[in-house]
Amino acid sequence: MPCATPDSPARIVLGVSGGIAAYKSVELLRLLRDEGFFVSPVLTPDATRFVGEVTFSALASEPVRNSLYGDRTTPIPHTFLGQHADVIVVAPATAHLIARYAAGLADDLLTATLLASRAPVLLCPAMHTEMWEQPSVQENLSTLRRRGVLVLEPDVGALAGGDVGAGRMREPKEIAELVKRLVSGFEGPLSGRRVLITAGGTREAIDPVRVISNRSSGRQGYALAEVARRLGATVTLVSSVNLSLALDVVRDVAVVQVQSASEMREEVLTRLADVDVVIMAAAVADFTLKASKEKLKKDQGPPTLHFEPTADIVLDLVAKRSAGQVIVGFAAETANIEQNALTKLRAKGVDLLVVNDVSAPNVGFEHPTNEVVILDREEHVQRVTLRSKEAVSYEILARVASLLSQGAS
Ligand code: CTP
Repeated sequence: MPCATPDSPARIVLGVSGGIAAYKSVELLRLLRDEGFFVSPVLTPDATRFVGEVTFSALASEPVRNSLYGDRTTPIPHTFLGQHADVIVVAPATAHLIARYAAGLADDLLTATLLASRAPVLLCPAMHTEMWEQPSVQENLSTLRRRGVLVLEPDVGALAGGDVGAGRMREPKEIAELVKRLVSGFEGPLSGRRVLITAGGTREAIDPVRVISNRSSGRQGYALAEVARRLGATVTLVSSVNLSLALDVVRDVAVVQVQSASEMREEVLTRLADVDVVIMAAAVADFTLKASKEKLKKDQGPPTLHFEPTADIVLDLVAKRSAGQVIVGFAAETANIEQNALTKLRAKGVDLLVVNDVSAPNVGFEHPTNEVVILDREEHVQRVTLRSKEAVSYEILARVASLLSQGAS
């Protein structure tokens, strides 16, 4: 089994398949070498049509390989590469490469190496939006994820031929950073910290069939869980939605499924003593109702629903927390954003309040992107402009890490 030590650097297989993003893999190779990794590039025959082998060979730890058939020093390259790799990263991963890997084909050195390895595999897909959105591509990725393959979802941005959309490969810097974390076992500023995150809109039952809920998709909470884990935290997610496949790269997040505000409260409060941080990203119902045991029938006419207030979980957390614990609240606003946010910050007593204007375009509920303002106890305002929910999570968690290091109370 491979095992990186200071004297023996981690061995990375850099797989490159045939897409225009292959030019970015040259930069990725350089960044991985800068980290001190031993990098073996494996190019598919199509990849060499985009970038010459010489370019990769000049930067890598050993010459590019692309043949299944070895030489005197390495007679069976796919088993040698597969068995000695600490991490295999495929960037770009084309739709064709993803399909071949999902089908278990081994018709070139890269797919054969993938099959001959037990190392963590990180795929960085890159393709046109139409291809990315094809059910066949998404199903192949789901299959691979179920088998433990890590997928770094592409960004929205400029694509080949002047098009713009989802499918742009992540930047080499970000990929290199993730590979580094995979090698080190997710060490980072939150290492040793336990973080509890809530996600999704709670569901209050009207009867056994119907619920009252809200538009929260849970994506921001899931993105926070993913990024907190990448930064080294032990993460528990208490969620009303199941988006496990939206966890891009990490799988070892404990997910507790709940439905109602009172179930969420119970699960969060019982765990409070065991965590360092609670981030309440969930959209918790403010009102609930007594559910009818039987389904309400249409011919009885429109029902009259009697609502009663739910307990405010954040207020309970702030009241019960111990010194040093960090509590983060969210605020969904649609009008008088800054004033409402300040009032909420003061009323809730949280360390950080993450405010989003959920009526703005591409922001908040049901969007992959978000734009937020982070307020702290001193009422300092940090604006985080429109970006992916994952990128927003990095900003929030950087603030959390800084509070923890100051021993917030
Ligand atoms: N929250 C909570 N328990 C509730 C309601 C909300 O813990 N019963 C938390 C949310 O998870 C979020 C914060 O409180 O972190 C603010 O939620 P938000 O819906 O913006 O505000 P509310 O307090 O519900 O006030 P309003 O609906 O009047 O804006």
